[in-house]
Amino acid sequence: MEVLVLPTPADGARRAAELVIAGLADAGRPEPVLGLTTGSSPLGLYAELAAAVAAGRLDLTAARGFALDEYVGLPPGHPQSYREVLLREVCAPLGLRPDRLHVPDGSGGDEAALVAAAAAYEILLAKAGGVDVQILGIGANGHLGFNEPGSALSSRTRVKRLSDRTRADNARFFEGPDEVPTHCVTQGLGTVLEAGRLVLVASGGAKAEAVAAALEGPLSASCPASVLQWHADAVVVLDEAAAGLLRNRDYYDASAAGLAKPHTPSSKAW
Ligand code: GLP
Repeated sequence: MEVLVLPTPADGARRAAELVIAGLADAGRPEPVLGLTTGSSPLGLYAELAAAVAAGRLDLTAARGFALDEYVGLPPGHPQSYREVLLREVCAPLGLRPDRLHVPDGSGGDEAALVAAAAAYEILLAKAGGVDVQILGIGANGHLGFNEPGSALSSRTRVKRLSDRTRADNARFFEGPDEVPTHCVTQGLGTVLEAGRLVLVASGGAKAEAVAAALEGPLSASCPASVLQWHADAVVVLDEAAAGLLRNRDYYDASAAGLAKPHTPSSKAW
């Protein structure tokens, strides 16, 4: 796991965009798959990716986008459904074709339909060859996608109940707290772990506790984002405030400096 602490969210967005672009290039696939998340955290990163597209440094016309999650029960076209959010915030500015955006279907009227939709999403993802680079945010309670505390570390796409904390946090996007759906369909933590590279962005002091628990606490279902510790290519891009409670900060900063000046012991010491 690599932890990069940048002075501001804007610096972090630029750095995260580089990591995403490099990850897609490294995958070397004609139809790369970008894993998408919603929320305010990735907005700067999406703006940087849009700038890269405009500058000709990134071309997503052949790419596919797979969303992490979707609310259950919002009518098609609801402005806060994650399909609509991603159409607005990603497809249009980044030139990702809307027919190449895949979002779990949360519109099923009963449990059987939702369970079937979750299974179908896993199959679609597998047929696309899996996610090359997954963009992630983190909930203030440590949730990843909509995997709330207590989610199995090996879970797959499925229906989950949203926690009261998450519904309260997301009420700002709705007319009022009661308008926030109670359930979602979310990729599981096991699904997320199969992506080639994970790029998690977080900023602000409200995320500091969750970030510290995810990066330096135990690998635990109590903090779903702690699964990043298990992934071989996970990069966490933070601003100073989000990194505020990290204990191993000196080590992360030294590691981030890279191999520019490696110290090798003097042979005379032998
Ligand atoms: C939602 C999404 C998560 C996201 C989280 C954080 O709950 N389902 O995937 O990480 O919001 O949101 P924000 O970035 O706005 O803090």
